[in-house]
Amino acid sequence: MATNITWHPNLTYDERKNLRKQEGCTIWLTGLSASGKSTIACALEQLLLEKGIGAYRLDGDNIRFGLNKDLGFSAEDRNENIRRVSEVSKLFADSCMISITSFISPYIEDRSRARELHAKDGLKFIEVFVDVPIEVAEQRDPKGLYKKAREGAIKEFTGISAPYEAPEAPELHLRTDLKTVEECTLIIYEYLLREKII
Ligand code: PPS
Repeated sequence: MATNITWHPNLTYDERKNLRKQEGCTIWLTGLSASGKSTIACALEQLLLEKGIGAYRLDGDNIRFGLNKDLGFSAEDRNENIRRVSEVSKLFADSCMISITSFISPYIEDRSRARELHAKDGLKFIEVFVDVPIEVAEQRDPKGLYKKAREGAIKEFTGISAPYEAPEAPELHLRTDLKTVEECTLIIYEYLLREKII
């Protein structure tokens, strides 16, 4: 942490919310590669924007092209990846946007830290477990990564040679092998309505 820095007070979240007439939050999608996180995140972003609700998606692959291009897939780098994304997502939520993150985020501790970071500022954090049996994810293998991981060409691949710690009490649990993308998207949308976030 740098020294000689001073925190400048902003408008409060409530002042911003009243002016923008929109609540912010983070919808945190977590799950294996090929579980459907990005697809659901895209569909949800599209649906919210069509309804005139400010939403923005932060995607695992995409963020690694820029902000997190210095990070790999060791446990340490994944911790740092999720730490930075948690901070960015919190800023979006604080700006009264619906921030939709789609990261494998395999460690319970990292996701808890993201939740605490939001809670500290009174911001809502909705954890969504995008769940699929690994056999189904491996069968889908849209990017051919499971095949490469099995052949040993990718080290530390989640679910094969690196851990995935499933959420213990997510706000929503979606089985993407049992429900369509549209159904999953609607479940999240209806949750936001029920919780009066939108
Ligand atoms: S993490 O674990 O949250 O830091 O990962 P994330 O930032 O979401 O990045 C996951 C995407 O990176 C690709 N990829 C890998 N995933 C897991 N393990 C290894 N070793 C790996 N190497 C590359 C892959 O495309 C992941 O995207 P999704 O959309 O999850 O398939």
